[in-house]
This record gives sequence, C-alpha cells and structure tokens, in this order.
Amino acid sequence: MHLTDLNQECLLHLFSFLDKDSRRNLSLTCKHLRLTFLDPQLWSLLNFFSPSELMKNNFILGPFLRYLNICWHSSRVKVCNIEDFKKTTFQRDLCSKHASLVSHFLECVCRMCPNLLSISLSGCGHITDGDVINVLRSCRRLQRLCLENCCRVTDAVLHAVIIHGGSLQEVRVDFCRNVTHTGLQTCREKRPGVCLVAERSAGMIPDIQPEEKLHVRRVLQKVLVFS
Ligand SMILES: *[C@@H]1O[C@H](CO)[C@@H](O)[C@H](O)[C@H]1NC(C)=O
Ligand SMILES: *[C@@H]1O[C@H](CO)[C@@H](O)[C@H](O)[C@H]1NC(C)=O
Repeated sequence: MHLTDLNQECLLHLFSFLDKDSRRNLSLTCKHLRLTFLDPQLWSLLNFFSPSELMKNNFILGPFLRYLNICWHSSRVKVCNIEDFKKTTFQRDLCSKHASLVSHFLECVCRMCPNLLSISLSGCGHITDGDVINVLRSCRRLQRLCLENCCRVTDAVLHAVIIHGGSLQEVRVDFCRNVTHTGLQTCREKRPGVCLVAERSAGMIPDIQPEEKLHVRRVLQKVLVFS
C-alpha cells in the first residue's frame, strides 16, 4: 500500500505529527499530499519562534486555527524593545525590517481565523494597540490573550478587553511597561470574571534620554536650593 492510498482523515493525522517545514516538503511531492497540506483542518495550532518563520510559505491560515503563539526571545529581536534613542544604526535597521511583519500577519489572522481561542505574543515590540484591538474585535471566541514584553501596548488594549473580549477568561500583560495601574484596575472592576495578570508592567520607570535626565537633575537641584 502506498502513502497516497490512505484516506484524507489518516493523512491529516499523519501530517499532524510533522513540523511546518516537513509538511510543506511532503506536500511538494504530489497533488494528493498537497491537498492534505492545504486542508484548513490541519492548521489548528501555529507556533512561530522567529520573524523569518512568518515569511515562510509553509503554513495555512484558516478557520480551524485555535491556538497561535508568536514568541521570540532571541537577542537580535529583543533589541526592538529598547528605546529608540538607545539603538545603534544597525539595530535600528534590523528593527525597521520587522516593524510591520507581525502587524501584517495579525491582519491576516483577523480576516481568516475567526475561531481563534488563544493568542500569545511575546517580544513583539512593534505591535500596536490597534493590532491587538483588531484581534479582539475579529476573534470573538478568544478566551486567552497573553502579551509579554510588548512595549507599545497601552491601556487601550485593556479597554478593548472590557468592550470586545466577551469570551476572554485569561489576560496577561507581563513586562508591558506602557500599561498603567489605573488601566489594570478599571479592567479588573469591569471584567471581574477575567483572570488578569500583569507581572512587571504598570509603574515601571521608562528610560529617558540623557539630556532629559540632566535637565531633571538641574530642576531638582534648583528646587532643593530654593527650598
Ligand atoms: C525541506 O526542504 C528544504 C529544501 O529542499 C530543505 O532545505 C529542508 O531541510 C527540508 N526540511 C525538512 C524538515 O525536511
Ligand atoms: C509608551 O507610551 C508613551 C506615552 O504614551 C510613548 O511616548 C512611548 O513611546 C511609549 N513607549 C513605547 C516604547 O512605545
């Protein structure tokens, strides 16, 4: 018996054990296996661990997607989370290359994956409130939203959790330094059923530019001298 004699159900099961690359490679061997690769049912879980993986043509987005994780921790990408004025030109170039990558990807998710249940975005320093709010608006079944180290994200996302996140059970905004205590508290009051966790988020002191620091010190000195 040949592999292609198996029915679609068996093939899907078989494919489910393979990583994205292997699935794609196998799908390039014949039309029959290509159809299995293209079957949206195969794609209920997607994990991405580097920006380049998002650009590979080795996965399918569709209505069966339930779990999506975009998590990068590598030092190359971590650079995008530091303040712009602290970046070298090289670092700035690197960041601008994947500035819109995740945003664009999330736009596609909003259009094609209405049944998403869980999304984790970790280290995605470029994503904006708008990107996350769009996901909350489009994926009404979302139960779990985990953001980690997404420095652009603000209280606007927490506000959208209140308004659009009717199915949400768990929300994490860890190391998201631009959310505030007030935002967290409002969200907890308005949506007490949601387990909201924010490790090291609100109240973090942002880095400020050296000149500003000097200025602050001078003002402080003056105040001290005159008081
Ligand atoms: C898939 O095919 C490419 C190109 O032939 C090859 O470089 C890669 O190692 C293959 N990946 C797997 C997981 O087989
Ligand atoms: C955090 O928010 C402040 C003010 O809302 C903004 O100026 C700053 O750029 C934000 N930080 C990042 C890293 O986006």
